[in-house]
Formats: sequence, structure tokens, C-alpha cells
Amino acid sequence: MAQAVRLVSTPESMPKIEHFECVEVDMPEPADGEALVETLYLSLDPYMRSQIAGRHMSGSVLPGDILRGEAVSRVIKSRNPALREGDVIAAHSGWRSHALVTPEGARPLGFSGLPESYGLGVLGMPGLTAYAGLLLRGEPKPGDNLLVSSAAGCVGATVGQIGRIKGCRTIGIAGGAEKCGWLKNTARFDEAIDYKNENLREAIDRHCPATPPYGGIDIYYDNIGGDMLQAAMERLAFGARVVLCGLMDQYNSKVVPTGPNPALIIRARATVRGVVVYDHEDLRSEMVEHISSWIRSGDMVVKEDITIGLEQAGAAFVKLLSGATYGKVLVKLT
Ligand SMILES: NC(=O)c1ccc[n+]([C@@H]2O[C@H](COP(=O)([O-])OP(=O)(O)OC[C@H]3O[C@@H](n4cnc5c(N)ncnc54)[C@H](OP(=O)(O)O)[C@@H]3O)[C@@H](O)[C@H]2O)c1
Repeated sequence: MAQAVRLVSTPESMPKIEHFECVEVDMPEPADGEALVETLYLSLDPYMRSQIAGRHMSGSVLPGDILRGEAVSRVIKSRNPALREGDVIAAHSGWRSHALVTPEGARPLGFSGLPESYGLGVLGMPGLTAYAGLLLRGEPKPGDNLLVSSAAGCVGATVGQIGRIKGCRTIGIAGGAEKCGWLKNTARFDEAIDYKNENLREAIDRHCPATPPYGGIDIYYDNIGGDMLQAAMERLAFGARVVLCGLMDQYNSKVVPTGPNPALIIRARATVRGVVVYDHEDLRSEMVEHISSWIRSGDMVVKEDITIGLEQAGAAFVKLLSGATYGKVLVKLT
């Protein structure tokens, strides 16, 4: 038998473990042109919360559905010469122990000599988001003050480290002393702000000194929205770039909050730009080449938060949404 995880019911606010159910399903049998893969790692990502809420651009997950998501998997039986037994690929196969794939739905990892799990994180979708979002939208220049929220997450940590490699002063915002210690001591951010234990506005002012009448943030890479976005907008330098990437502040809420005052953007002559990773597939091989070389040279470190066993996937997703994880959140199947 194979395993899969279903959504039991749609959560109204923060999901609980009871919203997810790991069930036994028939082992799929490949038809001509297909291959059977076993999941090695399943990626857990914040966007899945929006799919469950029925408001994500990639589609919805309804009660009874098997959850969607990308996995790194190994081919164990093939009826297609383009997929050989033993090949390791990435595919949107969902929260399943086994799945059927075709070559069109399978993506080669595109790197070797680094952990396969990186294909779902720093060398996968979150890495591409960080790479394209910062380089194309943030336009980093040496000496820029780059402020990043959710900086200990996969997107944020990758943004900050690319920013440092491009010569920016990097200031990361994260919740708790452990994450902030990791940002400064391991990921080599210049400064870290623990928004759960210090005054966010005072800390930004200290680390990004203003040049009145403007603030001191040249680039704000926003993974959160809400009051954190407001605090950053109040402190934009002349000509600042704001990259809008994520909405952690509102994923578990039914109410869409009001946004920052546009006058703050106008006053600073700032540029606010949204990033959607799906628009940047053309950059994937360049991203993998650059980021994997930065990992190998020691310029970039990688943090992963790995839970063992598909039956623990629901609990791991609840932990991700509660803010208790940092680094790329993955489930390793046994
Ligand atoms: N635009 C795109 O194409 C695209 C693509 C990929 C990801 N994203 C977005 O980028 C953001 C970061 O993604 P990621 O995969 O690297 O995830 P992540 O940063 O690991 O996200 C989880 C973290 O969000 C932080 N957080 C802040 N406020 C929160 C709140 N109110 N509730 C829960 N958590 C909160 C927590 O860390 P702290 O407490 O330390 O802040 C938590 O650990 C997400 O918003 C994601 O949806 C966008």
C-alpha cells in the first residue's frame, strides 16, 4: 500500500493537526508513458495555506482532497524510456509516498554534489523566488541597506545572503533569539532584529539610520505584510525599492487587512514591486548555477527543518504556520 495525506476540513483560522489525515491508498501502477516514483522529500510551503483557504492563484484544496505540493522523488518503475529507474527528479506529486509522473511533469534537479533536498529549497522554488525577487525587483547595489522580513525562512535567508554577496548591508527581521543568533553568526547578516522581543520601529531606526526627510531603508523585501510592512514603509530612503513577496500576516485570517498609506511611497519616490516566482522560470538554471557555487564556496549557508514520516506532515505544516520553524521545511519519507 501507499500513503497520502488528505485535508479533513477547511480550517477557519490556524490549522490544527486534526485538519489533516494520513491514509493508506492503493499503490499506483504506471501505464505506458508513465513512471512510478517514491517520494524522498516533500516540500511544505506557506502558499499551501492559501490553497486550503481557496484563494491561491495555483488552485484550491477542498476537504477530502489529497494536499498538493512539490516533492523530490526517485523513479522505482518506469514505462517511459525518458525516466529511468533510479533517476531522482522533482515533481508536483502532492503529499503522497508514491505517485505517477510523466517526463513533462518531472523536472531534473539540475545540480549534483549537494543534498537532493536543496532542490525544494535554496535551489528550488523558494531559491528562485529570492534570486529573481531581489535581483530583478530589488536591484541591489553595493552599500544599500537591505531589510528582509521572515529572514530566517528559506526565501528570506536566501535574499539576505544574495544581498550580502552583492555588497548590501543586510538587516534581517526574525522572531526569537535563536533565529536572530543564526542570522548574524551563521548566515552572516550584518544585523538581526528580534521583532518578538524588541521594538521593531526603534530597531529599524538604529540599524538603518535615516537621512531626513527620508528614512534609511534602500530595499525592503517583504514576506509578511501587515504592520511590519507599514513600519518599513514609514522608513524608506529616497528612491527605495519595496519587493512584495509574501503575506504571512494574513494567511490564517479571513479578514484582509488595510494596507500602508500610498503617501509613504510617493514621499520617498519609492518603487514597490510584486514578485511571483512562476514568471521567472527562465532564470532557474542561472539561479542553480550561481547559488550552488555560493554554497560550495561557503558564501551561502543553508538551513533545513526536516520532519521524518508522511504521517507527521500535517503536524509539520501546523508548526510551519505557527512560526516555530526556520529554514526550508521538509518531510523526509522513510
Ligand atoms: N511571491 C512568490 O512567488 C512567492 C514564492 C515563494 C514564497 N513566497 C512567500 O514568501 C514568504 C516566505 O516563504 P518561505 O517559504 O521562506 O517561508 P518562511 O519564511 O519559513 O515562513 C514561515 C515564517 O513566517 C514568519 N512569520 C511572520 N509573521 C508570521 C505570522 N503572523 N504567522 C506565522 N508566521 C509568521 C515566521 O518566522 P518569524 O517569526 O521568524 O518571522 C515563520 O517561521 C511566504 O510568505 C511565502 O508565501 C512567495
